[in-house]
Amino acid sequence: MEEFHEIIGTSRAIRAVFDVVHKVSRTDMPVLITGETGTGKELTAQAIHKRSRWKQGPCVPINCGAIPETLLESELFGHERGAFTGAVQQKKGKLETAKGGTLFLDEVGDLLVPLQIKLLRFLQDGTFERLGGRHTLRVHARLIAATNVDLKIAIDKNLFREDLYYRLGAMHIHLPPLRDRGEDISLMAMLFLKRATAHHRKPIRNYTPEAIDALRTYAWPGNVRELCNRVMRAVVLAEGSEITPRDLGLTGEILPPADSLDSLRAAHRRIEVELLVKAINLHRGNLTRVARDLEVSRSTLYRKLRTYNLEPLATSHATCSVTPFN
Ligand SMILES: Nc1ncnc2c1ncn2[C@@H]1O[C@H](COP(=O)(O)OP(=O)(O)OP(=O)(O)O)[C@@H](O)[C@H]1O
Ligand SMILES: [Mg+2]
Repeated sequence: MEEFHEIIGTSRAIRAVFDVVHKVSRTDMPVLITGETGTGKELTAQAIHKRSRWKQGPCVPINCGAIPETLLESELFGHERGAFTGAVQQKKGKLETAKGGTLFLDEVGDLLVPLQIKLLRFLQDGTFERLGGRHTLRVHARLIAATNVDLKIAIDKNLFREDLYYRLGAMHIHLPPLRDRGEDISLMAMLFLKRATAHHRKPIRNYTPEAIDALRTYAWPGNVRELCNRVMRAVVLAEGSEITPRDLGLTGEILPPADSLDSLRAAHRRIEVELLVKAINLHRGNLTRVARDLEVSRSTLYRKLRTYNLEPLATSHATCSVTPFN
């Protein structure tokens, strides 16, 4: 996984993201990156850092969801000697480590309210105190936050402060799920395949048409991370010169049961995408026939193709051009 540093994609959805990345890279404002798991939030944060004026400094990640509540304040803001039992010496927090660079605050929705207040103050005037500290410190660092939960729901439940949300989210990048990225799935699948075959020295050139179909119609709940892992695994398992749906573990995948309104909506979209992709492939891009088959008007069909970024699929059948982001 580590070798794929650049963000890949040519779909309209991801190009819109690139646009915002370029714009926010030129500012010092905090950025909020949202998106399902595996959509590339950390990769995007790194891309912003590398393109920003903070690039000579470090990019320091801290995962607020992975650190016990009792340790988080000290991890983030540091502590003074004697601040708590076991604090035998003074320690700098991640914020100070990120001085002159970027602090990447992952899973920011897991930050408890007192720390949200402390973070808000840092965002407002760049100051904070270490845990148990009496001196006010000032650090110059850029903040990028990420979350895969809906912060608006957390705000409604009084778990996340609205003022912090607006401060963080002034620059907001939402990463679309992979299933909404149209041609990016085959593009990434080809690039990941090339890299994996080079790595494992296996003479595999392509996917079977059934495998391409499976890649396009699968819902990708784990997004790009899952795609990458499935391709890696398929290359190891494959015995022929082409990757099959079985190699990918995508034989007869069914949608996971919808257990919330959100995933119900997601399941609905997925079913629509699945049907559209199947019909377009079946009729080799003849949209009159696709519309007739699916019993929708042509204008409804065009609207849906636009919504799901499937227009490129309809016009050029399964072409795979490579335009890495730079
Ligand atoms: N557009 C992309 N092009 C190439 N690789 C990508 C892309 N998006 C994600 N990846 C790769 O997929 C993996 C997951 O990406 P990343 O860790 O940035 O996701 P995330 O949104 O932070 O996930 P999580 O919410 O689970 O932390 C990484 O290995 C990353 O390099
Ligand atoms: Mg992440």
